[in-house]
Amino acid sequence: MNSQLSTDLPVPTLQLRGFDIHAGLIPADGQAGWVDDIRAVVAAAPLVVPITPGGRAMSVRMTAAGRLGWVTDRAGYRYAARHPGGGDWPPIPARVLGLWHRVTGLQRAPNCCLINFYGAGARMGMHQDKDEGDFTFPVLSVSLGDDALFRIGGVDQPAPTQSLWLKSGDVVVMGGEARLAFHGIDRVRHGSSALLPKGGRINLTLRVVAD
Ligand code: SIN
Ligand code: FE2
Repeated sequence: MNSQLSTDLPVPTLQLRGFDIHAGLIPADGQAGWVDDIRAVVAAAPLVVPITPGGRAMSVRMTAAGRLGWVTDRAGYRYAARHPGGGDWPPIPARVLGLWHRVTGLQRAPNCCLINFYGAGARMGMHQDKDEGDFTFPVLSVSLGDDALFRIGGVDQPAPTQSLWLKSGDVVVMGGEARLAFHGIDRVRHGSSALLPKGGRINLTLRVVAD
């Protein structure tokens, strides 16, 4: 079930406490195609303002592709089979799935691609990805657009932390000891990339959620 397709996996440019960072894995001239795919998903499943269980609006805008999407509202954090506005989530685009298989070497496909959009001032507090019900599989993160300051923490506690800038085209694999590590985005340098005409950052996280 965890079998690898290939041993010919891309080598991380940096390994930090179990996080595998592949800087620039998606070439600059290929990134517009990714944005087109994400725009098509967003057209079918619009970005929403996520509300924490405590009633606060998160600063990112969020949607998803795949069988399940991660949602949050006053009822709590969970994976849901339908967009908050109704309707199924669109399928995960083929090039996104292709990257997952190429980087993880896994046969198993992810069933959730969470899409976070960071406009001016958006950030994400330190958290663990722990709603998936199965931590055997890594979470793979793709950054597109503006530069973001990514903070990495410990497995059972946020501290001690280390930070690095993620740029457009960078891919991070959070597996093994990093699978349940705390992480967050302190800030985004709005307008630092020309990929999106009005600026902003897109982050995709691919997850295998237990059925
Ligand atoms: C997340 O943890 O869901 C997002 C991480 C990122 O935006 O790089
Ligand atoms: Fe996360």
